[in-house]
Amino acid sequence: MLEKFQPAKADPILGLGKLYQADPRDGKIDLGVGVYKDASGNTPIVRAVKQAEVMLHASQTSKTYVALAGSELFRDEMRKLVLGDAVAVERVATLQTPGGTGAIRQVFETMKKLNPDGTIWISDPSWPSHMAMATHMGFKTRGYPYFDAATKMVDTAAMMQSFEDLQAGDLLLLHGCCHNPTGANLDMETWRAITDLVIEKGVVPFVDIAYQGFGDGLDEDAAPLRYMASKVPEMCIAASCSKNFGLYRDRVGVAMMIAKDAQTAEIAQGNLAILNRLNYSFAPDHGAAVVGLILSTPELRADWLDELTEMRHTMLKTRTDLADALRQQCNSDDFDFIAHHRGMFSRLGLSPQQVDALRDEHAMYVVGDSRINIAGLSGGRHQPFAAAVAQVIGLS
Ligand code: LMR
Repeated sequence: MLEKFQPAKADPILGLGKLYQADPRDGKIDLGVGVYKDASGNTPIVRAVKQAEVMLHASQTSKTYVALAGSELFRDEMRKLVLGDAVAVERVATLQTPGGTGAIRQVFETMKKLNPDGTIWISDPSWPSHMAMATHMGFKTRGYPYFDAATKMVDTAAMMQSFEDLQAGDLLLLHGCCHNPTGANLDMETWRAITDLVIEKGVVPFVDIAYQGFGDGLDEDAAPLRYMASKVPEMCIAASCSKNFGLYRDRVGVAMMIAKDAQTAEIAQGNLAILNRLNYSFAPDHGAAVVGLILSTPELRADWLDELTEMRHTMLKTRTDLADALRQQCNSDDFDFIAHHRGMFSRLGLSPQQVDALRDEHAMYVVGDSRINIAGLSGGRHQPFAAAVAQVIGLS
């Protein structure tokens, strides 16, 4: 059987990390995978996480299984963190998953079971795994226009026009905040228009929120999703604790499904637990136990909020620093959009040759579509990066 494998293509984001690690040059800069970095380029363990781990170490007396759907404390705290009081608790089914990616997978698995012939709509561009996972599972997919490369804003008109083709039962994947890879987000007016549209057409909105707290704040980032959740009869959500809790490798995420009524939600809840059983049995517990403890312990929660705010402010400052540096280096306002984008990423609009030149000539690692991880530029790294960009685009 195995001889049928063809050599695998490197992952467009993770493949870059390997090249970076193998690069012996001093001053190299990694702007690839979306992990937070401090001024010295490290990805620290969040203080509250470390403290919660110590507390768990002291208090845990068993490693026996928890529950197929995962820890109730974790799921309930995450429901409140993401949804606030937008939806009655009885209408929400929740499932602990291995990371946000696991939650996406379980939402797709649900679609496979309940509406396998429906189409999954994914923004063009999007996080590459969205389309890769949907096609891997054999779904019909459709990319919808999202980003206007000229204005670096959302092309709302083109997007809404393409939505005219949405069919009842289709799954419409939206980024809750901090759009990956562009950094350009939908405005509230557009969220309201999409909400009306999905209700009118019987489409199931699926909001992936992997960066809550990295844009404008925890509640601010969740506001569009909460608005939509308060209006629609049905909705799916995938939330991740990789970024805002820095728990990347511990794989902590949650899938939520809002049903039209309590009875439907209860049946959905049972089916979701079985879906975990069918795919991998139990989701990993450690990181979810950490998150549950942090969110339910006032001192830990307050410290986590402080650190999350620090991370967000560092990224916002790096955005303005980089936009300023590029304005100086290039003598143009072409990159001012970076200061207006939100989240970890912006797409610079460089050609593949310019991205290659950044890597080959300057040891600066940017994803092939010219997406940069803003967090990789803190600690003054925006200066050499701006100079390198100016050089590769011929403006210095
Ligand atoms: C990213 O887009 O860099 C992150 O979501 C990490 C990943 O798994 O790709």
